[in-house]
Amino acid sequence: MPTNARADHDPPAPEPVEVLLGLGSNLGDRDAAIAAALDALGRVPGVEVVEVSPLLESEPVGGPPQSKYRNGAARLRTTLVPHALLAVLKATERAAGRVPGPRNGPRPLDLDILTFGGRTLDTRDLVVPHPRLHERSFVVEPLRALGVDVDAIPRIARPRVVDTPAAVQEASLAWRRGGCSIGFVPTMGALHEGHASLIRRARAECDRVVVSIFVNPLQFAAHEDLDKYPRPLSADLELCERNGVDLAFVPPVEAMYPAGFASRIAVGAEAEAMEGAARPGHFIGVATVVARLWSIVLPDRSYYGRKDAQQVAVLRRLQQDLCLSGELVECPIDREADGLARSSRNVYLSPEDRTAARAVPRALSAAVRAHRNGVHGRDELLGLARAELDAEASCTGVDYLEIRTDLELAPWPGDRPVDSSARILVAARFGDPATRLLDNASFRDEPPVVG
Ligand code: PAF
Repeated sequence: MPTNARADHDPPAPEPVEVLLGLGSNLGDRDAAIAAALDALGRVPGVEVVEVSPLLESEPVGGPPQSKYRNGAARLRTTLVPHALLAVLKATERAAGRVPGPRNGPRPLDLDILTFGGRTLDTRDLVVPHPRLHERSFVVEPLRALGVDVDAIPRIARPRVVDTPAAVQEASLAWRRGGCSIGFVPTMGALHEGHASLIRRARAECDRVVVSIFVNPLQFAAHEDLDKYPRPLSADLELCERNGVDLAFVPPVEAMYPAGFASRIAVGAEAEAMEGAARPGHFIGVATVVARLWSIVLPDRSYYGRKDAQQVAVLRRLQQDLCLSGELVECPIDREADGLARSSRNVYLSPEDRTAARAVPRALSAAVRAHRNGVHGRDELLGLARAELDAEASCTGVDYLEIRTDLELAPWPGDRPVDSSARILVAARFGDPATRLLDNASFRDEPPVVG
């Protein structure tokens, strides 16, 4: 065998890559900790410290009250792959005495990969270029001191706004490969604090958050408010940005329903009564769009508000029947200060009708309070709730007012005493033209507080 056979098959030595590193410390002897870290890094095989900026003094950003930081930046050259360098940096932080603590809390050493060659990476523990690099003067100034053209470093937009299923799927699959869990909040836009609370929950429980904004024509009947449904896209995207959404999917109708799209999903009993009876075809539209969105996003968890309790029941059935991925998370009803459940349609109400509409949570509250005081007859509880609605002149119709089992929402027999496993649900119309308001309450929970 020729002596150089092995050398012929060895992969070529990796080309060194330039890395920009953020340096920080606000505990102990800060300058000494940064100097020791750079010294240690310089001794790691495959890492060369090329240049270090002067250190500056900066105020802490976020986190608990804490003392000022020393910050700087360094230019390295490395043959390590990004996650190997990250592991070296974490070990160096630990050697300096860093222990797990609150987010943005005080630390003896902070080493952040700001850029890694020209690469973009979006994994669970490493995002480069660093997403907040451009906003932080204690990063920008030291980089400029190193002669870096900071404006030329690409910004990671949050949220990234995409309009094709393929772009969402590509991002979602890349995140999965990077070990990220994905939370999904489907919406029709006109986002309010109720949506924000779903997004914040997804943010707290998942590594990446996707929000879809799509006014789904399939779930509106011909005479309904499809055309006038509010579409304040830039305010919606601002709310997404404020609440840490990673990707906003804003498809045009043709992207969701391309030419030839012909499938419809009809969910069974869950979809028939109440909203299903008042809005024939509505849940076929909801189930069809959500199944399609779900298959595009491939979420680990998707988040829905309990205000639309029947929608949640329909989607839970859909998910089980079609083995759609992940967990469906049902979140509590978010109410305005006066008790009205938050809804994108509340903006349609005139100030007078808005005041009158408090009769909806008041009706639910009356039934739940009476139940707590020992009234267990279904019809009696419904009568008390109905009286609150009938007392409002601008309540122009009650589409349904029912007591049902929780979760499945099966009818509650009239001869069975109402117990805490029941839920009371209502859809009532207010004003002219009428705005339909939905609400519900469990007999297990505290009654809605009405201001
Ligand atoms: O609840 C909604 O906003 C919609 O019904 C949904 C789930 C986004 C489907 O269009």
